[in-house]
Amino acid sequence: MLYLTLEKQLHAAVQTVLPEAALGTLQVRPCADPKFGDYQCNLMGLAKQFQRPPRPLAEQVKAQLAVSEWCEAVELAGAGFLNFRLRPEAMARELEQAAQTGALFFTSAECPRTVVVDFSSPNVAKPMHVGHIRSTILGDSLARILRLLGHRVITDNHLGDWGTQFGKLLLGWKQRLTPDARARATIDDLERLYKEVNAACEADPAQLEAAKQELVKLQQGDPENLTIWQKMIELSRAEFDAIYQRLGVRFDYTLGESYYNPFLKQVVQDLLRRGIARESDGAVCVFSDGQCPPKEDPFLIQRDGQWVPNPCLILKSDGAANYATTDLATLDYRWRTWRPDEIIYVTDGRQQLHFRQVFAVFARWQPEAAAHLRLAHVWFGSILGEDGKPFKTRSGETIRLSELLDEAEERALAVVNQKNPELPEEERRRIARVVGIGAVKYADLLPNRQSDYVFSWEKMLSLQGNSAVYLLYAYARIRSIFRKGVEQGVSLETEAPVQVTTAEERALGRHLLNFGLVLRIAAEEYRPNYLCNYLYELAGLFARFFEQCPVLKSEPAVRASRLKLCDLTARVLKQGLEVLGIETLEQI
Ligand code: ARG
Repeated sequence: MLYLTLEKQLHAAVQTVLPEAALGTLQVRPCADPKFGDYQCNLMGLAKQFQRPPRPLAEQVKAQLAVSEWCEAVELAGAGFLNFRLRPEAMARELEQAAQTGALFFTSAECPRTVVVDFSSPNVAKPMHVGHIRSTILGDSLARILRLLGHRVITDNHLGDWGTQFGKLLLGWKQRLTPDARARATIDDLERLYKEVNAACEADPAQLEAAKQELVKLQQGDPENLTIWQKMIELSRAEFDAIYQRLGVRFDYTLGESYYNPFLKQVVQDLLRRGIARESDGAVCVFSDGQCPPKEDPFLIQRDGQWVPNPCLILKSDGAANYATTDLATLDYRWRTWRPDEIIYVTDGRQQLHFRQVFAVFARWQPEAAAHLRLAHVWFGSILGEDGKPFKTRSGETIRLSELLDEAEERALAVVNQKNPELPEEERRRIARVVGIGAVKYADLLPNRQSDYVFSWEKMLSLQGNSAVYLLYAYARIRSIFRKGVEQGVSLETEAPVQVTTAEERALGRHLLNFGLVLRIAAEEYRPNYLCNYLYELAGLFARFFEQCPVLKSEPAVRASRLKLCDLTARVLKQGLEVLGIETLEQI
């Protein structure tokens, strides 16, 4: 990795000038504008820390830098920047090495971390709706990126398979389904039952009471209710699994909330015993311990200009544990079982307070574990319709994930039918599946995850803009160069080494080298959108290169070099799309 080599040299130079400097934060990064060079580093922080004027300091560091093997003369810029411009030979060497070894500009983590990714996690007895798509797609991509970087990743689908909704569902199941209907029940029936019983409960307090009784019976382990509950979970999981299969998403574990039921009492008792939780109005809660400023304290909330308690409830006055209790038990279990370095929770932004509280309670409960364990709530915004309102069907219903995927494939098929009517139907359908599912995923991964995004079929399936379709075409186009070469009987001999001569080759090569860095930063900040943008730029740079630099028509040595650039681009595109969870096609 050239940027790491330069970073090492930079550290050595800084060490000579300022032996006591901490080097960890001194980084070599790509220049945003290639006008200034390929890489740069900023010495202003260091200058400030040691109260040195930045320019002379940068000058001194520059004098110590031994990078001529890789770079042209290093330039001093601005108040304290050093700009590095790679020598074409150095860039070519790096590209050649990748072409020969197949290592695509990234290395496996030197210290692999164990990372648990908690994502998707839909609620049982409700069809998966479009809101769960973001967690599923984002979580899957993060898990793939981390795995590619050599970390030990454990994925866990924390199904919402326990909770108050089961009282109503059980009542509905018993009252409203004939034995025959029970045998044939689907998740749609469960949804309908829930709605009907809900309405009945609103109209009639006796129904509400009956539903509560069913819930209590379930919680007390009533065998009949447990059997029905189990059946509902199976029905739901069959539906979820069908969707995961379509999306190509898999989990190492699907333990679900109910798995932690046996641990909940213990958690509450432990927190009470240690004085972390206390009773309040018949419930058990965790209050602020006053250890952090009110603004950062998840157990305080501002009301009328005053900071008032905002406790985390871990046992309701009726004796039932809740979502936070389960999450504490889950955290404790994961820590005991897998000793992770990091746990990533992927949910929508409305759960921010929940996770801040859970993480804070855990830090007080198990400070040693918390000191070792990085806990990250990776949250995302909503999907909006083109009218800017929450994405719903015309009649105002939430959109089913399965229907959304059907529509994506249908729309993609229409595009494929138009472009490639000559292909056999089966092949057209296969292409439409990859394109349709890929388009939905990419549209979800591309925006900054924390902002809401507008769902647009047009944009998603556009051949021009920053879309999966554009990238899939870019990939297939490169593959077609090789097929054409074979057809034309051109030698695809790749003996001659990579050379970087034209401006377009240089721009493409420079971008290829940054693949690993982008992967790393995407993983560190939990933002696959960096990778989307990187791939989009790569496809654009490739298009310019291909326009300006003849490949198959060039003389053999140049052709061999350019074919290697083509192949490297295709491989980076394929690998990049793969960790976004998107399949590629050799031909569209
Ligand atoms: N079932 C929850 C929901 O649909 C998400 C669970 C997320 N994971 C967790 N450990 N709380 O909102």
